[in-house]
Amino acid sequence: KRLILVGPPGSGKGTQSPLIKDEYCLCHLATGDMLRAAVAAKTPLGVKAKEAMDKGELVSDDLVVGIIDDALKKPSCLKGFILDGFPRTVVQAEKLDEMLEKRGAKVDKVLNFAIDDAILEERITGRWIHPSSGRTYHTKFAPPKAPGIDDVTGEPLIQRKDDTPAVLKSRLESFHRQTEPVIDYYKKKGIVANLPAEKKPEEVTSVINKALS
Ligand code: AP5
Ligand code: ZN
Ligand code: ZN
Repeated sequence: KRLILVGPPGSGKGTQSPLIKDEYCLCHLATGDMLRAAVAAKTPLGVKAKEAMDKGELVSDDLVVGIIDDALKKPSCLKGFILDGFPRTVVQAEKLDEMLEKRGAKVDKVLNFAIDDAILEERITGRWIHPSSGRTYHTKFAPPKAPGIDDVTGEPLIQRKDDTPAVLKSRLESFHRQTEPVIDYYKKKGIVANLPAEKKPEEVTSVINKALS
C-alpha cells in the first residue's frame, strides 16, 4: 500500500504511523523527523531547513521533494510506504505524482486526520518524544512509565523546539493556507478517507484499518 497521512500539527499522524507500518509492513517516511535529524546533525540540508522550522513555516518545496525522491529510490520503500507530513503543498503533491508515475506507481489512499484547531494546543504542549526512535508520549494522554524517560530504552525524552503556543499558531496558519488545498487535490481523485482524529487513539486506529481493508 502507498499511503499519505495529512492533518494539522498534533492530529496524531506520528502516533498512528508505527501501528499502520507494522500492520502492513510499510516504510515510514516522515519529512519532519528527517528534517529534525538533519538539523541536529548540522548537515547542509539541516542548516537550510532550520530557520523555517523554528518559525513554524514550511521548508522549501525543492528541499523536501529531494528528500522524498531519494527515499523512493529504495525499491522496498517504493513498494509500500506511509508518507507522514508530505506532501504539504499542491506543488509537492504534483511532484510526488510525477516521481511515482516515472516509477510505475501511484498513491492508493490519503488518510485525512480531521480535527478542530482548539484541541491541538493541549496535545502539542504536552508532547514528549524519544528522538532516536520517534516514540511519542503525552503527559496527560499517553504518559511514559517514569516521567521524562523512554519506556523502552530508559533514555531521556525531549520536547520539540517548535511545540510552543506561538509557533503552533504559525504552523496552523501554514496548514490551513498551504496544506488544506492538498486534501482537495486528492478529493478530486476520490482517494481520501476522513478520520475522526479527535477520538481516542484506538478508535482512530480502527477507522484506519477499516479504510484500508
Ligand atoms: P512535522 O514533524 O511533520 O510536524 P507537524 O505536521 O506539525 O505534525 P506533528 O508532528 O506536530 O503532529 P502529529 O500529527 O505527528 O502528532 P502526534 O501523533 O505526535 O513538521 C515539522 C516542521 O518540519 C514543519 O513545521 C516544517 O517546517 C517542516 N516540514 C516537514 N515536512 C515538510 C514538508 N513536506 N514541506 C515543507 N516543510 C516541511 O501527536 C501529538 C500529541 O498528541 C502526542 O503527544 C500524542 O501522544 C498525542 N495524541 C496523538 N493522538 C492522540 C489522540 N487520539 N488522543 C489524545 N492524544 C493524542
Ligand atoms: Zn509528527
Ligand atoms: Zn482551514
